[in-house]
Amino acid sequence: MRYKSQSVAYWYFAVAMVLFGLQLVFGLLSAAKYLGPDPLLYILPFDVTKVIHTNLLIVWVLCGFMGGTYWLIPDESRSELHSTKLAYIQLVLWTIMGVTAIIGYLFRYGTGNKLLEQPLPHKIVIVICMLIFLYNIGMTIRKSGRFTTTEGVLLLGLLSSAVLFLPALLHYENYTVSIYYRWWTIHLWVEGVWMMIMGAFLAYLLIRLSGADREVMEKWLYVIVGLVFIAGILGTAHHYYWVGVPAYWLPLGGFFSALEPAALVGMAMMAYGAIRRSGLAHPNALALHWTVGSALFAMFGAGLLGLAHTFPSINKWTHGTLITAMHGHAAFYGAYAMIILAMISYALPQMCPSRPDKGTSLGYWAFWMQMAGMFGMTLSFATAGIGQVYLERVMGMGYLDAQLKIQVHFLMLIATASLFATGVGLYIYDFFRFRPVFDQAVEPAAPGADPADNREPVRGSV
Ligand code: HEM
Ligand code: HEM
Ligand SMILES: [Fe+2]
Repeated sequence: MRYKSQSVAYWYFAVAMVLFGLQLVFGLLSAAKYLGPDPLLYILPFDVTKVIHTNLLIVWVLCGFMGGTYWLIPDESRSELHSTKLAYIQLVLWTIMGVTAIIGYLFRYGTGNKLLEQPLPHKIVIVICMLIFLYNIGMTIRKSGRFTTTEGVLLLGLLSSAVLFLPALLHYENYTVSIYYRWWTIHLWVEGVWMMIMGAFLAYLLIRLSGADREVMEKWLYVIVGLVFIAGILGTAHHYYWVGVPAYWLPLGGFFSALEPAALVGMAMMAYGAIRRSGLAHPNALALHWTVGSALFAMFGAGLLGLAHTFPSINKWTHGTLITAMHGHAAFYGAYAMIILAMISYALPQMCPSRPDKGTSLGYWAFWMQMAGMFGMTLSFATAGIGQVYLERVMGMGYLDAQLKIQVHFLMLIATASLFATGVGLYIYDFFRFRPVFDQAVEPAAPGADPADNREPVRGSV
């Protein structure tokens, strides 16, 4: 940790870790309900556990993005943060917003718009937090006078995420109109502007972990941003197939969303290129596992499994089934959960001096158990989904009858999810077991064996 103010990131990561753990509790509860009978039916029905599961995901991932950004910006701009006080106020507001929203859902207080269920007062707090955040980051960069391409892409992603949240503040009585605009936030977040955040984190980590050339990494970033714009925006139409809008959205959605995996392949190639050119010699091999793992898992979960059901001719069978859950889990985890875990794994040894640079063996167990667990969960959802589509949509069996037939896949889901949750539990334990020390600067470990590696960029400066 070169800059003292980077320590705020620790507390963002800590909150994210706790909420991640809680998210899984509600995931397991949701999965258990598929096996029935449900003793909690009248206290915590499926819709409540699922909304808490997915909302905790959004809250912790955004908290991780904010923490990651507060860590990255001082390093890139070579300056302390503009205001740590503002950063802490923002974190407190964010946490209160997240926790009270979850408590509200227990009492059915929410707007019912999937993934954007937060009541209006909570949404307003989200906007306030984003404004504080962007102001703080913007001022830091302005005062430092140093603005790299990596920061530019990150800022573009964060700024657009805030702007794209605005449609979520509006309420429409008409369901078609409501769902039409919902995707402006949800789709354009996960398949658009968040990819820029991921790309920027990836570039930052690869430059530092593999000593890869900044110029090359940042060229890749331009390619990724370009691809996201070309494919991601009109790709929104892959959610418009069956919502009651004109039929021309079908070919548009099919064509442009089929191009979307290109950006994810781009990120995997960026990681591969970095490794090939500069090797894997950085002492923090655990952070490298998460970084490269994220690029690959995202290509699999988002790119490949997204493509698997994005054409209208396939989506007409799979829409809204467990096939969607299969892709949703692998994509969200690979792209966004893993890149945050990579950022944490990179930053942590610099904040906790007693933590070994190369990571702990618990850390590696956590990594591999999560990999195996999430892969197994993806397969469980996939096999359940294929059965569901065939029985329900092709054979015309009733929804509940089909669910009974595919119950065995939920046993597999719970088994693999337990493995996954154990991996996450280990990660969280490993996170908290070393005490952070913020009053001394800990130099980051050098990438590779060569001290002349390109860690101190000159290009992209203003
Ligand atoms: C212990 C691990 C987990 C279990 C048992 C679990 C289980 C579930 C279940 C049963 C659902 C409801 C599916 C349905 O609507 O039928 C769900 C939804 C969802 N979960 Fe998880 N989950 C886990 C971890 C995660 C993780 C780590 C992520 C992301 C990083 C995630 C993201 C999602 C998303 C995005 C949805 C909504 C998908 C959709 O609506 O199609 N879950 N989860
Ligand atoms: C990191 C990137 C991605 C993430 C996190 C992600 C996540 C998700 C989630 C959570 C859903 C369920 C949304 C809901 O029903 O509310 C979804 C749906 C969908 N995704 Fe993705 N996705 C990503 C990338 C992609 C890509 C690249 C494609 C296409 C190539 C794709 C194709 C689809 C399709 C077609 C659906 C709709 C499924 C249905 O009709 O039920 N996704 N995605
Ligand atoms: Fe989408």
